[in-house]
Amino acid sequence: LRVDESKLTAEYFEQLSRESAELCCAIMLSSEERVRQEVAFRSVLEVARRAFPDASLHHFGSTALGFSLANADMDLSISLGSNAYDAYTPAQLVEKLGVVMKNAGMRDVKMLTRARVPIVKIRDAITGIRCDIGFQSKLVLYNTRLLKAYSRIDRRFRELVFIVKYWSKQRNINEPYFGTLSSYCFVLMVIHFLQIRGVLPCLQQIEPQDGQTVPTITIDEANVYFFEDVDTLVSSGKWTCTNTETVGELVVAFFKYFSAEFPYVHGVASVRTGSVLSKEDKGWTKDRQQEMNRSGTVKDRYWLCVEDPFETTNNVGRPVDKETLFEVRGEFIRASKILCSAGGVGTGAADEATL
Ligand code: CTP
Ligand code: MG
Repeated sequence: LRVDESKLTAEYFEQLSRESAELCCAIMLSSEERVRQEVAFRSVLEVARRAFPDASLHHFGSTALGFSLANADMDLSISLGSNAYDAYTPAQLVEKLGVVMKNAGMRDVKMLTRARVPIVKIRDAITGIRCDIGFQSKLVLYNTRLLKAYSRIDRRFRELVFIVKYWSKQRNINEPYFGTLSSYCFVLMVIHFLQIRGVLPCLQQIEPQDGQTVPTITIDEANVYFFEDVDTLVSSGKWTCTNTETVGELVVAFFKYFSAEFPYVHGVASVRTGSVLSKEDKGWTKDRQQEMNRSGTVKDRYWLCVEDPFETTNNVGRPVDKETLFEVRGEFIRASKILCSAGGVGTGAADEATL
């Protein structure tokens, strides 16, 4: 990759920052849509309780985080009394839920009983809001809280997330089902990059009180501890941000990082540690990948490694194989070239680049 950042001017970065802010405003979900989501949430809960009277409903993912683009699907998770989990398999829970959703007049009901995490997809008849409803482990609620905490530390994070999500959808590399990456993976990649760049701290390594060690809080076999009281991060002296780059500069640096700097062959992007770990050390090597495929078990691929912050044995980049890594990395390189091309200055190429 031969791109010459040194030619980029302060005016160009200013223009990129301005255009990024405008793009975020244009693609963000409206307050009217947010109200419709709340209405849909209540109707899903009411219907779910017809099948499971003790159900509680939780909102996670981008619409809970304020990261969603317009017309996003709402991610919802039902939790039940523990008896229900003994009485039904995950697929049966989803079937039972799907039937009551259909009977209640919900539209486009689809039961994905064979997915890794079985879900029911619906469109609320009154509001038109689409929801993915599952019975996920509590960890999705904790990782949503972790992402929320990061989003409250520095506004540049949220802006970068919008740009990267929009770009990934425009370039068709945001489809885990077809071997590319989930939005969640892209968000983790953004956090990892901002940690390396000194824009964000590593919340899972910050001790609750000075002099204490980082505790272990176990939920579903994972340590879900992180420093959540982000309002006191700076005042308590636990974190000082020294990075003063603009969003424009960070956009250019982000695409360059995943084009030319991130060590795809040996490295694992780790938000948990705020560093790049080694695939070898985690046992995330190709040998293991082939062995697991032959044995016919879950395909754990390690072409692109992004560690889940809590479920540390989970590679969130799992959907990517040799071919789709070529495609994904090719898109990073393309974006980086466009952003850094000398023609970018004052020619509107910045628009094209963020698209
Ligand atoms: N999630 C997860 N593990 C994954 C994928 C997703 O735990 N491998 C959980 C995370 O809590 C994430 C949520 O599911 O926040 C939603 O994931 P996803 O739909 O990929 O991200 P969104 O931010 O909701 O993006 P989009 O707007 O594209 O739906
Ligand atoms: Mg989602």
